[in-house]
Amino acid sequence: MKSIIVVGAQWGDEGKGKIVDIYSEFADVVVRSTGGNNAGHTLVVKGDKFVFHLIPSGILHPGKKCVIANGVVVDPKVLLAEIGRLKERGYLKDDGQLKVGLLANIIMPYHILLDRVREEKLGSRKIGTTARGIGPCYEDKIARTGIRACELIRPDTFAEKLRANLELKNFLLKNYYGAEEISFQAVLEEYLGYGELLKPHFVDTSRFLNEEMNRGAKVLFEGAQGTLLDIDHGTYPFVTSSNTTAGGACTGSGVPPTKIGGVVGVSKAYATRVGGGPFPTELFDEEGQRIRDRGNEYGSTTGRPRRCGWFDAPVVRYAHRLNGLSSLALTKLDVLSGLPRVKVCVAYEIGGVRRDEVPLSLAEFEEAKPVYEQVEGWKEDISTAKEFGDLPKAAQKLVRLLEEVSGVEISLVSVGPDRNETIMRKNPFRA
Ligand code: GDP
Ligand code: IMO
Ligand code: MG
Repeated sequence: MKSIIVVGAQWGDEGKGKIVDIYSEFADVVVRSTGGNNAGHTLVVKGDKFVFHLIPSGILHPGKKCVIANGVVVDPKVLLAEIGRLKERGYLKDDGQLKVGLLANIIMPYHILLDRVREEKLGSRKIGTTARGIGPCYEDKIARTGIRACELIRPDTFAEKLRANLELKNFLLKNYYGAEEISFQAVLEEYLGYGELLKPHFVDTSRFLNEEMNRGAKVLFEGAQGTLLDIDHGTYPFVTSSNTTAGGACTGSGVPPTKIGGVVGVSKAYATRVGGGPFPTELFDEEGQRIRDRGNEYGSTTGRPRRCGWFDAPVVRYAHRLNGLSSLALTKLDVLSGLPRVKVCVAYEIGGVRRDEVPLSLAEFEEAKPVYEQVEGWKEDISTAKEFGDLPKAAQKLVRLLEEVSGVEISLVSVGPDRNETIMRKNPFRA
């Protein structure tokens, strides 16, 4: 029995979807435990592209069960659209392949509207959220006023909860934000309709997962967002509203930590960030634009250009500390091909003093200047490399340097977006 958590080791968009798709072959069940449709996970299989916001990236593997667990905030409209698109393309033929937690909190129209108007009001101080209602939905969950999946199929309870929520939300929307009020009747009908459609997928996901694991099933947990976006350990307030670190996989799914066999961090060979917040290695020059173009660094959820910079080892070391990484999957190495030299941030300088750790204070993080090490680049196209030894010597040297400065072994190197553009050095399910 071995179950693996895949987490983002940077600021999200590290390529978790692709890595989960690859590891899914060796797992029986794939689970999303945290976040919501703020996530955008892209997979490319034989040239065909798929983007998932809620459905686990294992869904393209026939026979593998996929679970959206209680810790995920679910927008039912988005989920149904995603299910529809998959069915159109010939996948998800059996509804039983996808399970949705009965206790998952539901994203309501007022969450989405509040997310938007709140960001507008913040103006230049905005977080740069994905405007999908994630923060407001998690707030209601913590305030114990949220509406959960099980209530979508109980019309009386749903109506009562919706009425109580709308009383306050409409007051806020109208009087504080000067926005449109939301109609009780329209939402009631729309959401009860979603409940009917999603009902075949609703189960007790914690029970399902634990029973499967007790029978020997291997479970793969698909992290969303990235370590530095964690609500407790990230660059608060420029974070998302859930625990994106490995512990979130357990709390969100109802699977105990004693059943987890390993944690694989995913990191790009450089770094990107979407939205506001500190990013010490950010590039504002042509080199940054070149990485953005070659890496196609535009958000899969919002289409926003991603901020691009060099690999930040203190960030990955921090991710190692918080997640206890067994190994690292390194993505997008191909994007660096053709650069005369590659820089790697190994420490920061803050107030004239060298610092090896990510600072806790936001002000210090914003002030941090990267201390770089530099290695030679390579010119060759590396996307057809199948073994580590197929990589040019300079690329091998960079991978070894990244292992050394992060303190984590690199068990996989991704050299292109497609499933087969991958060098698997070690299989975490067999390690
Ligand atoms: P996620 O949110 O962590 O799943 O990452 P995203 O899917 O948002 O962003 C990663 C992007 O990089 C996607 O468009 C992937 O198809 C692409 N990608 C993943 N691995 C590689 C790689 O090794 N090379 C290149 N060129 N693209 C990759
Ligand atoms: P995946 O799973 C990158 C960022 C947003 C914003 C902050 C808060 O694809 O890696 P939110 O809408 O969650 O309240 O926004 O978090 N963010 C992500 N950035 N990848 C993601 O997901 C993200 N999900 C949220 O850009 O800065
Ligand atoms: Mg993404």
